[in-house]
Amino acid sequence: MQAIYEGKAKRLWTTEDPHTLRMEFKNDATAFNGEKKASFEDKGRLNNAISTLIYQYLEEVGVPTHFVRKIDDTNVEVRKVEILMVEVIVRNVSAGSFSKRTGMPEGKDFSQPIIEFSYKSDELGDPLINDDYIREMGLASVEDMAHLRKSALKVNEILIALFADVGLRLVDFKLEFGRLASDPSKIVLADEISPDGCRLWDLKTGEKMDKDRFRRDLGNVMDAYREVLARLQARISE
Ligand code: TMP
Ligand code: ASP
Repeated sequence: MQAIYEGKAKRLWTTEDPHTLRMEFKNDATAFNGEKKASFEDKGRLNNAISTLIYQYLEEVGVPTHFVRKIDDTNVEVRKVEILMVEVIVRNVSAGSFSKRTGMPEGKDFSQPIIEFSYKSDELGDPLINDDYIREMGLASVEDMAHLRKSALKVNEILIALFADVGLRLVDFKLEFGRLASDPSKIVLADEISPDGCRLWDLKTGEKMDKDRFRRDLGNVMDAYREVLARLQARISE
């Protein structure tokens, strides 16, 4: 079987079934558009375990995803999709590039979630775009965009509650969607959901439990991921 895609933190492999792929979680981590690089022992396993729990949970509560099953520590089987070149970012609390762009300090709860889009292009550094850009760039139709917004808000509601249950504040996160290879009229949630692409703050202490520990050199990066997994495992069993 051959690798058909290598990203910063994952690899995709073909399988015997043309509509199914194997997604491998790597130990590599990057930040700031790949400028900062590191490798963390066990990251692939931890992210796979966290993402698997979350995708199984989302499927159970009725969110269609690419997830099929966990294969082993660092691999899952997924339905093949054509990824939409639009990253969907949902923000519940000011942080990160929102705070940088606006000057609003980190940690302010928004009255309603903010949805933001970026063009998935490593070359251009994933620039911020809006619905009008997306329409004119032909990245997704107006109907598709309505679907992405609705799905992202639904996932947000589900995940806010899930993380709150385990003492974590879901500050923001990034989602990717794709069209099923077996039925391109269907758009499903793809990629992964892990501390690599979410900001999670401990509800009691405010401690950062996500990739900001790496971005901001806070140390104990994998301890935080391990803690997120332990809490989710105690809440939902695999
Ligand atoms: P930001 O504040 O840097 O824009 O990030 C918002 C959220 O999206 C944060 O939880 C991290 C996630 N994210 C990714 O997963 N990949 C990316 O390339 C970027 C820029 C953000
Ligand atoms: N994932 C992006 C990168 O690797 C940005 C980030 O998460 O900070 O550069």
